[in-house]
Amino acid sequence: MPSKKRTKITKSINIAVKEILQGNIIALPTETVYGLAADATNEEAVLKIYETKKRPFFDPLIVHIRSIKDIKKYAEEVPPEVYKLAEKFSPGPITYILKKKKIIPDIVTSGLNTVAIRIPAHPMFQKILAKCKVPIAAPSANMFGRLSPTCAEDVYKELKGKLNYILNGGHCELGIESTVISFVDDNIKILRPGYITKKEIQKTIKKKVILVRNKARHGKSKFTIYSPGMLKIHYSPATPLYITDNIYDFKDQSNVGLLDFSKYESLNEIAINLFSDLRKLDEEGYAYIVASKVKDSGIGVAINDRLEKAARGRVKMGKWEIKFSIKK
Ligand code: TXA
Ligand code: MG
Repeated sequence: MPSKKRTKITKSINIAVKEILQGNIIALPTETVYGLAADATNEEAVLKIYETKKRPFFDPLIVHIRSIKDIKKYAEEVPPEVYKLAEKFSPGPITYILKKKKIIPDIVTSGLNTVAIRIPAHPMFQKILAKCKVPIAAPSANMFGRLSPTCAEDVYKELKGKLNYILNGGHCELGIESTVISFVDDNIKILRPGYITKKEIQKTIKKKVILVRNKARHGKSKFTIYSPGMLKIHYSPATPLYITDNIYDFKDQSNVGLLDFSKYESLNEIAINLFSDLRKLDEEGYAYIVASKVKDSGIGVAINDRLEKAARGRVKMGKWEIKFSIKK
């Protein structure tokens, strides 16, 4: 058992840089969610990410780089569409899957011959990349399968005792993870819906893009798993979450937490607060939480994807079905 660390929350970029260059892991802010970062070229440091999160080794990590100008250092073939997208959305919440170069160790990519590359927009992360001069591997800073943290305090709740520092960059601006898009075979595919929508992508590259999330099912491997991390179960609170048509059916039940989006004015606002609201409800000790899906367009696709996975298949249940399944 590794010894327990005294985890400190800091705003010091220099500390973050030092930790990374010493081969340690550190949690840091991105514009989407907080990441658990390490030098991507240091295999031992990357190993610490998997161990700390209890993440299975088959689930590869995103490599964060400073600028699109550096992409060819890490990726073998970079099609023109990537540059078009980068011009518009990078730095920002979009991750490109490309053929990898040897400089990226196999442990980062789970032995795949592809690598996920993202250029993060958060100014603190940008400063760290500029000072470290190494690519930085970082998954979301939560225990595997759990809710992604969107502020330093939520990272602390997930990972305290497991790392020296959490870099505090305030609440994440977007709240939902990057769109993961693959360029490694004939069709361009969105492997994970995210902040940048399919429509925006198609408009930019003037090509058809396939959203594969509904086809890839883990377990019943009738369909291809395009992205090893694209599991059906993910982003979960400890309290069971149920998707239902009308959360207000439960408003008189004191043991049910309502994930209520009616206080928000836009899908963007819902995205920003989704994980932190779920976490708050999770901490309140309800028997279960209920939520309803949002309009399935634009960023609503990514919100619904996270909700479905958080609900672990308990989707579209009526009031009595939920009560019945809780009593069992
Ligand atoms: O916004 C984000 O993307 C955040 C911040 C921290 O950058 N990161 C994030 O990382 O969400 P993570 O590890 O929680 O999710 C990365 C996803 C996983 O589903 C993983 O399987 C997929 O990207 N992925 C990574 N490398 C891949 C590859 N070579 N091929 C296919 N999928 C890949
Ligand atoms: Mg994650």
